[in-house]
Amino acid sequence: MHLFAKKPIDVLLAQASEEGEHTLKRGLGPIAVVALGVGAVIGAGIFVLTGQQAAVNAGPAIVLSFVLAGLTCAAAALCYAELASMIPVSGSAYTYSYATMGQFVAWIIAWDLIVEYLFAAGTVAAGWSGYLRNFVEGFGYSLPTEWVTAPYTFTGHELVATGAILNLPAMFIVGLTAVILISGITQSALFNNLIVALKVLVVLAVIGFGFAYVTPEYWTPFIPERTAPIGDEPGRYGVQGIVTAAGVIFFAYIGFEAVSTAAQEARNPQKTMPIGILGSLAICTVLYILMALVITGLAHYSTLNSPAPVAVALQNVPALHWLRQVVNAGVVIGLGSTILTLLYGQSRIFYAMARDGLLPAAFGRINPKTRTPAVGTAITAVAAGLMGGLFPIGILGELVSVGTLLAFAVICGGVLWLRVRHPEMKRSFRTPFVWFTAPLGIAACLYLVANLGWPTLMRLFIWMAIGLAVYFGWAYWHARRFEAARAAPAE
Ligand code: ALA
Repeated sequence: MHLFAKKPIDVLLAQASEEGEHTLKRGLGPIAVVALGVGAVIGAGIFVLTGQQAAVNAGPAIVLSFVLAGLTCAAAALCYAELASMIPVSGSAYTYSYATMGQFVAWIIAWDLIVEYLFAAGTVAAGWSGYLRNFVEGFGYSLPTEWVTAPYTFTGHELVATGAILNLPAMFIVGLTAVILISGITQSALFNNLIVALKVLVVLAVIGFGFAYVTPEYWTPFIPERTAPIGDEPGRYGVQGIVTAAGVIFFAYIGFEAVSTAAQEARNPQKTMPIGILGSLAICTVLYILMALVITGLAHYSTLNSPAPVAVALQNVPALHWLRQVVNAGVVIGLGSTILTLLYGQSRIFYAMARDGLLPAAFGRINPKTRTPAVGTAITAVAAGLMGGLFPIGILGELVSVGTLLAFAVICGGVLWLRVRHPEMKRSFRTPFVWFTAPLGIAACLYLVANLGWPTLMRLFIWMAIGLAVYFGWAYWHARRFEAARAAPAE
């Protein structure tokens, strides 16, 4: 029975309204919250995957893949907004599921969210390292390959050594962002706002200057004819290609829901949470669709399968060569905020779990000076840094997408469940047409999951199996002892 014990919502709300030096600080207004979402979303995905997926799966119709993935995210975002406005407490999907479906489901979701946040932070750090290399090379210098490349990669199903030693820049950027995060929420938000403004300017520059030089012929045929599979290689393009690409570039949208992890640090969260979640997704969707149009209009899609496809597209137009280093610099600086917000989200989920006894207490301890979960953030950063330092971006990226899609499906289901079980609860934001939107969100997420293929799903299942072992081997018992101690009358 304990497995499905729910955490009462009034207890959650009471915990969230505690004040004092050992609590999180409410330092985020609506602009900072939208910037948090945009900061997490615009990252390696748009700068790397757009070109690659246009080249290998969708052609110019990558624009439609962005529309498809954007619609899926919109359904999930509307559901997230309702839950975040109802239960404005740290911990996001983990907390919502603990309140509605009980501890066991909450643990499963939390374990899945690690794939979404912690693995994603490592993935983006690996992407950051690639762009740093590009940036440095743009000035005619080069970094030693063995220290800027992952020592391991997957070929087929095997983990093989690449001969490199460590991806040091990936570890460095994670360390740097962790220091900023630990120093305080106000400092982190200021740093994030500045970088997000810069990042959005870079994207607008590519769109604005790029549109003047597009060659419309590159957009035809807009949906290239589907090719036949060759050996192990699946077919490419066509409508199927658009869907496959949507599953992969979905990664580019991940992050708007990180806003919901900030519920306990936002002022007036019932209002700011929906604004942050929906506002950041809307801004990013428009930017992404325009960016995809421009990139595929500047160079033929078949030339864009590169680690830095935006640079390749700009290289194709002599009048835009000057923009290449500007973009590289913008990405190098901009990805810092993606890593920052992802680590932030993860540390707050761990914080919420530790407060429930499902993780060691260190994760839930707030440093009284900085009012941040300092030790938890540091441990999270070490894990993300190792991931970014040891593995390449490709392996991590798809795993992150599949994990997030599953979390989104659960969120959409959670909204329906709560509408039935707790219709009386106050909702500052209500998902419009919920009986249409939420099932559509679930169906779209599962459809994209199915299109990501078995190897990725298998890796997720292995990860989840490890999660079950940790739960039954340790977390479940620890949480029981923790609750018993809390319930015992004070001496
Ligand atoms: N959406 C984030 C990115 O593309 C995770 O890097």
